[in-house]
Formats: sequence, C-alpha cells, structure tokens
Amino acid sequence: MPSEKKTTISVIKADVGSLAGHHITHPKQLEVARQHLEQAREESLIVDFHVTHCGDDLELIMSHQRGENDMVIHELAWNTFIDVTEKVSRPLKLYAAGQDLLADAFSGNVKGLGPGSAELEFEERVSDPLVVFLADKTAPGAWNLPLYKIFADPFNTAGLIIDPSLHGGFIFEVLDTHEGLSVKLKCPEEIYDLLALIGDPNRYVISKISRNDGLPAAAASTSKLSMIAGRYVGKDDPVCIVRAQNGLPAVGEVLEPFAFPHLVPGWMRGSHHGPLMPVSYSDSQNKCTRFDGPPRVVALGFQIANASLVGPADLFDDPAFDKARDKANDLADYLRLHGPFVPHRLGPEEMEYTTLTGVLDKLKNRFQKIQ
Ligand code: F6R
Ligand code: MG
Ligand code: MG
Repeated sequence: MPSEKKTTISVIKADVGSLAGHHITHPKQLEVARQHLEQAREESLIVDFHVTHCGDDLELIMSHQRGENDMVIHELAWNTFIDVTEKVSRPLKLYAAGQDLLADAFSGNVKGLGPGSAELEFEERVSDPLVVFLADKTAPGAWNLPLYKIFADPFNTAGLIIDPSLHGGFIFEVLDTHEGLSVKLKCPEEIYDLLALIGDPNRYVISKISRNDGLPAAAASTSKLSMIAGRYVGKDDPVCIVRAQNGLPAVGEVLEPFAFPHLVPGWMRGSHHGPLMPVSYSDSQNKCTRFDGPPRVVALGFQIANASLVGPADLFDDPAFDKARDKANDLADYLRLHGPFVPHRLGPEEMEYTTLTGVLDKLKNRFQKIQ
C-alpha cells in the first residue's frame, strides 16, 4: 500500500511523434503536456512536475505521494500522451504521431501499453539529491553498465571504499525480459553472478537497486516495445532515476560512468550498435541527427523537497564531458565504416525484432540445397 508520508518520483515517457523524422519533439507537444500536468497539480493529483524531452521522446517527470504503479498517475500520463497526440502530433502531421501508444485504451498501468516508466518511492532524507537520466535511440539494457559501475564498482565509486555507510553494498533486481522473471542479487557478494546476467543487456535488464538496508536507490524503465507489439516499433529509449549523496553514491560518482561512451543497441532503425553520448539538455546537443543518432543520454539533477522538484540542473553541460562526446564521435565514425555489417549492425537474435525479418522472409524460398 502506498504510504502518505513517502514521496514517489514517476518518470513516464513516450514517443508520440516528432519534428523532421525521429529527431526532436515539437515545442507545442511540451506545452500541451505542461498544461495537462498543471491541471493535475491544481487538482492535487501530483505535487510537482517537470515536462521535458530527450530527442524525440516526451518525458513526464512527476512527484507525488501516491506510491509506485498508481492507477491515477499512470492514467494521467496516458491521457497526456493521447492529448498531445490528438492536439499537436496529428494536426501538425508530426512524424510517427502516437507511435508508442500501442493500446486502444488505458487499462490500469502504462506498463504493457507502450510508454516507458521508472518509479521510485522513498522517505525523504534531510536533503535528497536525485538524478533523472533520459536516453534516446537506445534500449533499457543501456543502463546495465553504468548502474553496475555506480553501485558495485569501487574503481568508479570511491564511496564504496571510503564511506562506511556504503560498505554494506547494494541489492540489484534484474529482469529476464525473455522469460518475464526477476531475480535479486546482493553485491559485492554476488557481483560475478550479477555480471553473468547483465553482461547480456538485450535479455537481462536492471530494474531496481536498493541499499543493503532497504533504502531505495535507483529505478529504471524496462519495457520493450517489440515484445508488446510483436513487431518493430522503434527502440524503447529508456529512463532511469538514481538517488545520490549522504550514504549513496555522490552525484559525481553517479555521472562518472558516462565519461566512457559505451556501446549500446539502438541508433538507426533500432538496429545498430553505437556509443551512448552524454549531452546537455540544450537544443544544440539534445537531438539525434547523424544516422538518426548516435544514441544520447541527458542527466537532470533535482533536489526533492517535500515532494517538490527543485531544479533541474543540466548535469552533462560540462566541458569535462567534451572528451566523452569526442570519443563517441570517433567511435561513431569507426562503426559507421562497417556499413551494414555486424558488429555495427545488431546480431541476428536482436534483428529478429526489426524490419529485417521481412527481407529475410522474402528470400526464404530462393534457397536451394547444396549438392
Ligand atoms: C530508431 C528510430 C529511427 C527510425 C528510422 C526509420 O529508434 O526511431 O532510426 O527507425 O528513422 O524510420 P521509418 O521506418 O519510420 O522511416
Ligand atoms: Mg521517434
Ligand atoms: Mg526516441
């Protein structure tokens, strides 16, 4: 049961159409979404909100006291996406209007209907810094590597060594997206087991992390559109919430993994590996143009004050991440030279969920037995 005293941060997102192909949201979409959430705030459904975007994904960051998976909050998000689609995306003929709204009607929770969601309920500390990560042109498993580094790798997070309150370690909840199962693994004791799973981010996805004493630390979106629709409908462009400081990794430790632009699936047609480039929220960086990418991540920092969202701070707006962006561009050049060849193009298992299957089907009957 949701507790009234606790604060919940719900980040619910969808691609409901964009400007100039799968590129960037239209300002009017954000305006209509803000109007919706403003009204919800006046009606006290939510305490606060921040509407934003990452590339072509519209993101609703909401704070409230209704707990995770609350039907009212999920319906609010669903109705907002519907309204943005009807009032802006369709009249302006934005590209792929309503793309991620896979169901005809709302049915209790956005999970399984198309939009992605990450939610975290917690008791507010004296001061509660929190980072919301938003990505475009990639998939939920993209957070596996950075979340591992933040919460389990002392070469990334000095606090795991230096701060006694982090010594107890963290518990990772991992989903098997193929089987619809989940498992909890305690780190550092079980880091080898954890890595055995999350090293394959296409199948195993970290959904939640809590401190050893149960303190909620992180939540990530895990929905896979292709699994819901049974066909390719774009990548799932995930979001992630990470709490920081005072007994949790510091904000700088939370951001540090992104100094390494690791390779993630997504990019053009959701069918290519590319480097995850950390970018500022600003318009000059937060849009996917080259080969519809490369994949991008924005980090917004908030302070949570009595369920209000104070901020955001644009955390990758820092020349200290210029080198990561340069490296991502170098990697993009290198990978692009492979053209349609793996490992730039995803392997056959992942390509099963793309439009390539249509092409392979067409060729099936032309194959003949080798004499
Ligand atoms: C990737 C993405 C784009 C599209 C590509 C083709 O997640 O959304 O790269 O896959 O632009 O789009 P269509 O098939 O709509 O022309
Ligand atoms: Mg799109
Ligand atoms: Mg997108």
